[in-house]
Amino acid sequence: MKKYKNLIAKEISSLLENVTEQQIAALIEYPPNSEMGDLSFPCFKLSKTLRKAPQVIADELKWSLQLDAIERMESAAGYLNFFIDKVRFADYVIKSILTLGDQYGSQNVGNDKTVVIDYSSPNIAKPFHVAHLRSTVIGNALYRIYSFLGYTCIGINHLGDWGTQFGKLIVAYHLWGNSDEIEKGGIDELLRLYVKFHDEAEHNPVLEDQARAWFVKLEQDDKEALRLWRWFVDISIKEFKRIYQLLGVHFDSYTGESFYNDKMEAAIGQLRDKGLLEEDQGASLVRLDAYEMPPALILKKDGSSLYHTRDITAALYRKDAYDFEKAIYVTDYAQNLHFQQWFKVVELLGYEWSNDLVHVAFGRVSLEGTSLSTRKGNIIKLEDVLQQSIAKTKAIMEARNANIENMDEIARQVGVGAVIFNDLSSSRIKDIVFSWKEVLNFEGETGPYLQYTHARASSILTKAMSQFGMSINDSLVEPAHLINDSSIHLLKELSMFGERIEWAMQKSEPSIISRYLIDLAQAFNRFYHECPILVENASVREARLALVKCVKTTLVNGLRLIGLEAPEKI
Ligand code: ARG
Repeated sequence: MKKYKNLIAKEISSLLENVTEQQIAALIEYPPNSEMGDLSFPCFKLSKTLRKAPQVIADELKWSLQLDAIERMESAAGYLNFFIDKVRFADYVIKSILTLGDQYGSQNVGNDKTVVIDYSSPNIAKPFHVAHLRSTVIGNALYRIYSFLGYTCIGINHLGDWGTQFGKLIVAYHLWGNSDEIEKGGIDELLRLYVKFHDEAEHNPVLEDQARAWFVKLEQDDKEALRLWRWFVDISIKEFKRIYQLLGVHFDSYTGESFYNDKMEAAIGQLRDKGLLEEDQGASLVRLDAYEMPPALILKKDGSSLYHTRDITAALYRKDAYDFEKAIYVTDYAQNLHFQQWFKVVELLGYEWSNDLVHVAFGRVSLEGTSLSTRKGNIIKLEDVLQQSIAKTKAIMEARNANIENMDEIARQVGVGAVIFNDLSSSRIKDIVFSWKEVLNFEGETGPYLQYTHARASSILTKAMSQFGMSINDSLVEPAHLINDSSIHLLKELSMFGERIEWAMQKSEPSIISRYLIDLAQAFNRFYHECPILVENASVREARLALVKCVKTTLVNGLRLIGLEAPEKI
């Protein structure tokens, strides 16, 4: 549809003075129903500059415009409505998708400029839980969306591998842990120690002092502290990587917080030189009262660094290393203030690029009513959720159709996809409740529904091949067979794909693509019920099959953008 918008905008702007093609294109709308046209140009904004009533402008344009792609125009209540030539439109959509294939929907908006995306970033020695999943899948989708739009992406896992919790773990390990148990139990055992530390520290505050002391030692490169820390990190990363593999998520760099240890001094030096650093009871901070925010803490009174310190240092480093056009941080909205504070500090350092730092916040996840907290040990482990989802999917598939090849692999693709889609199905800022009934509903607005629709399209194409021995040749497709309501509706959905991807990028909102895919699948299912495909008439059959092929291509591309696989059979 974007091509149509541009075509109309070009013609209109050539008829008018002082308005650009882009300005016109931005005004063109899609009417809520097709009786009002396929595209519509509201003339209200122009009314002021042209000193004419909107209705008059619409009337005049109607008589002057000449567009082959448009069958007719109607001027109504200040709008100029365009009705497209359906046959040409069908021809254009089918040809574009069949020619572009897995590149359909991509564009070079980014021109190879770099976008750094900081996502997932779990904390070492704590299990990866469902809240980290959101950051992982949103970040992964943004990575794929930006890449598809021609940006160079750098995916960074800013592991929480530094901080006072390591002091706590070291104390707990010395008091109650042993190496065999940790080797055997992995993160679970580390969590047990962490939880025990908090339980004990409640009535024995000395433990907190000891933990702080160990963290200071760690920051001063104490050998024993470093050895234990490295060990906890390795154990954790091994488990995280297992999950990333299951999810199909990739990072270009695992530079966690500890990576910035030797770089913080320079950053703190800059703060000091700019006169931003203030002493307060032995601690160092940047005051942000003027911006109605609490101060950003940079150094504690024992000299140890903080989350803010490491984020500021990391941003300076990333600008230097990648010269990014944009740096995105994906975390839950509980960290809004944290990001507002340190973005401001970077601005106060005099860096204009502080405007290119973007916090992409998302809502909380609860599991049918339970809230999640690491300290109390009351957490839901993501790996368990994924494994359960795979097992439940397999059970559903077995109940539906027992003889499917590579059932385990497909159950993995669908089970994992269901969990990912659930996280991306509503706008990111909304809190979501995880409910098995909804996540795995094959008929609802879910990942399995999309994958199932894709498998249905695939099976029609395979059947056509075996029954009629044909493959689709776009030059033979007769578009006049595709102008009934359900086909045109489906073609229109298909033609929206590129614009939706751009929109998803502009809003950092993968759910725009999830929503789009549901609409597309519903349009396809309507077409499928209204238009028999494998009919005797070869010309009709070929045209409808071409449309099915286009749907399959677009579903695969869209699912890939949000991190879902598209098995051929379910
Ligand atoms: N490790 C943090 C957490 O689990 C998230 C880190 C996000 N990235 C960043 N650069 N602050 O809450």
